[in-house]
Amino acid sequence: MIFPSSIRSFLLLASFVVVAATVSVDIEARKPDPCAAIAGQKWVAPSALRACFTSVKVDPVIKDNIVQVINKTLAFHTSVNYEFKAPQPFTADVHEDLLGDLARISKQSYPSDYDLHIDFSRTLKRLNDGHCVWINACYVTLFLNFLPTPLALLTDVSGAQSVHIAPEAFQVASAEFPDQIDVWQNALPGPLKGKLESLSGAKVLLINGQDPFVAVNANALITGSFQALGTRQNSFFSSYQRASTGWNYVMGNFAQQSLPLSDSVTLTIVRTGHILPEVVVLPYRARVGSATVPFTDTASWRANNCVAIDGTNGVNLFGSSSIPSSTNIPVVKFKQQPDIPAPVERKQHVNVMLDTSPPSDVVLPPTLVPALPSLNGSASVTQFYMLKDGKTGVMALGSFSDSDFNTFLIGMLTGLQSLKSLGATQLIVDVSNNGGGFICAAHWLHRIIVGPKSTTVPQSGLDTKARDGPLAMLIVDQIVNNNADPNNELLYNPTNWPDANNVFFPPTDNWLQPPVLTTINGRADAFSQRLGEECPANQFPVPPPATALFDGKKVVIVSNGRCASSCSLFSVTMNKEEGSPTVVLGGKKDVQQQYCGTVGGQSTDFSTIDTEIKSTGLKNNSLAPPDLLVNGVQGITWRLGFGVVDPTQPEEWQPRPATLNLPITADIINNPVAIWEIVTKKLLS
Ligand SMILES: *[C@@H]1O[C@H](CO)[C@@H](O)[C@H](O)[C@H]1NC(C)=O
Ligand SMILES: *[C@@H]1O[C@H](CO)[C@@H](O)[C@H](O)[C@H]1NC(C)=O
Ligand SMILES: *[C@@H]1O[C@H](CO)[C@@H](O)[C@H](O)[C@H]1NC(C)=O
Repeated sequence: MIFPSSIRSFLLLASFVVVAATVSVDIEARKPDPCAAIAGQKWVAPSALRACFTSVKVDPVIKDNIVQVINKTLAFHTSVNYEFKAPQPFTADVHEDLLGDLARISKQSYPSDYDLHIDFSRTLKRLNDGHCVWINACYVTLFLNFLPTPLALLTDVSGAQSVHIAPEAFQVASAEFPDQIDVWQNALPGPLKGKLESLSGAKVLLINGQDPFVAVNANALITGSFQALGTRQNSFFSSYQRASTGWNYVMGNFAQQSLPLSDSVTLTIVRTGHILPEVVVLPYRARVGSATVPFTDTASWRANNCVAIDGTNGVNLFGSSSIPSSTNIPVVKFKQQPDIPAPVERKQHVNVMLDTSPPSDVVLPPTLVPALPSLNGSASVTQFYMLKDGKTGVMALGSFSDSDFNTFLIGMLTGLQSLKSLGATQLIVDVSNNGGGFICAAHWLHRIIVGPKSTTVPQSGLDTKARDGPLAMLIVDQIVNNNADPNNELLYNPTNWPDANNVFFPPTDNWLQPPVLTTINGRADAFSQRLGEECPANQFPVPPPATALFDGKKVVIVSNGRCASSCSLFSVTMNKEEGSPTVVLGGKKDVQQQYCGTVGGQSTDFSTIDTEIKSTGLKNNSLAPPDLLVNGVQGITWRLGFGVVDPTQPEEWQPRPATLNLPITADIINNPVAIWEIVTKKLLS
């Protein structure tokens, strides 16, 4: 609906100008439009982008609308009161008074709408929960802010760790930014001019005149997504991921920002083969986002990129309005998974992280891409390889979702069986940057690896609970007592969920009653009864094998710690129930590395909840969030998984220490095969 709304805004603007004409239009008209200055450009200076962003004042109506949408959607988020003060070992990491901060934001004034956005975004990010994130596509990823020098934390022969410009930095940057690399080449001082390549691998002594970990830790405070400090530190550095189209390179938060936060960086470096430190200043450059709708000035930027679009809000499934296809839904581009067609996602519930960085499309340099042949079963985000030792199989799994659920699950089985037929007796599962996906795919993978046993039959996932907010209870009332969902299309329909004994509720069972009253951090809360398994064997495309494919203790799960949601469901149950060792690549050695985070149980978002509300005729209820006016997304944890070690408490804030924090040396950084060979030597030989 871009065309009509832009006309509407144009008319609004035009009438505003007429009304305001007598006061300031003469001066205003001569002041150049800061958004026209960046319009139509592929690359801009971050300061020019900020000048555009900060030129728009806060509209109190829109501000209140966002506060109301977030606040009322949070009534469906399971973790609000837990996140007020998380238990150990995450107390220092998660302690956010969300409702208090929303009240503060309501009263506070801001120099611009951009400043207000940053406060909303960072307030939610302080939860360090990748499911519960506020994203406004008006600002986030309109442009991405880049440096050509991604960083790596490397360990030397003596075991000392230091920050380096990634050895592959120039290869990555020259391939990804062919139209901008000269700007950086020419920015280098004196004799270094044109020699950007010679910076690759350089040791970084100082960032902006301070120890590099000052910058690493400052970023860890605002990056969000993961409970553990170690994981948020790792977000600063580059890493790799198996994506649906190939092997991708993740630049890290130093070299890629989703907002124009920095204009330049001053690095004090020692280049490879040199002794004396040198100082270089590199400008950040902002590149227009792939999903940005073209604009020519402030009015068209706002109209094309900042107002609610199809899919921002929910729909009444039983009304006359058309239902948007899932790939058009704004939330999709921030989900850390490949696109899933709408009918598949309706049937297969997901648990997936949202991130302000879109999934990376920067490619891993060819010299680092695994050169081993991909085996049968390999497709999209799943690749199978046999290491040269002839006994270690590798499954690289960059996501728990795929465009087709059945093909995805059958591919997993085919791949593991072909590894076995080639003689594999042990397995590495590399889940670097796996942000989750289908819940039942995580159950399936665990089940087929270790075979049928008490930990996998009838279920290999975690029990969960939903939150019994007052509006949620009214939705279920409508479904159960007023037949408001005759064809079982809604999330809250009882027939979707089994009780703690894994028996599915009948259509008339009010599964939110009676509420389980719980006091968390001194605050009264209420949840559903304990829920069991919703991935029974008859839901899988083929029967799972009758025997184990691998001994769980011979399955090593490898990542940079950035394994979330369904990836966490898989890793947690494999580690804590089957004794599978876990590896985190290259984390700071004096910081406890956790092998995954943002566990959740099932994730969803405002738009989906709004569909539940509208379809059950409750949009007029005072507890219902209003329709969102801006191009925003609010994610939530809708069901929260119970722990393995303490099954009475959520898994979310229980410890998940890595078996091994693998030191990363210059010769193996971002080289998956070299890493898998070392992991084999250390944990599997
Ligand atoms: C948020 O909602 C709560 C009820 O859950 C209400 O008490 C509070 O005033 C609301 N906060 C704001 C800022 O609207
Ligand atoms: C891979 O698939 C082909 C074709 O179906 C088959 O001939 C071959 O034996 C399979 N290889 C393995 C290792 O399973
Ligand atoms: C909501 O209220 C409006 C006006 O009060 C009314 O026209 C509309 O029918 C109501 N909608 C529902 C779903 O009850």
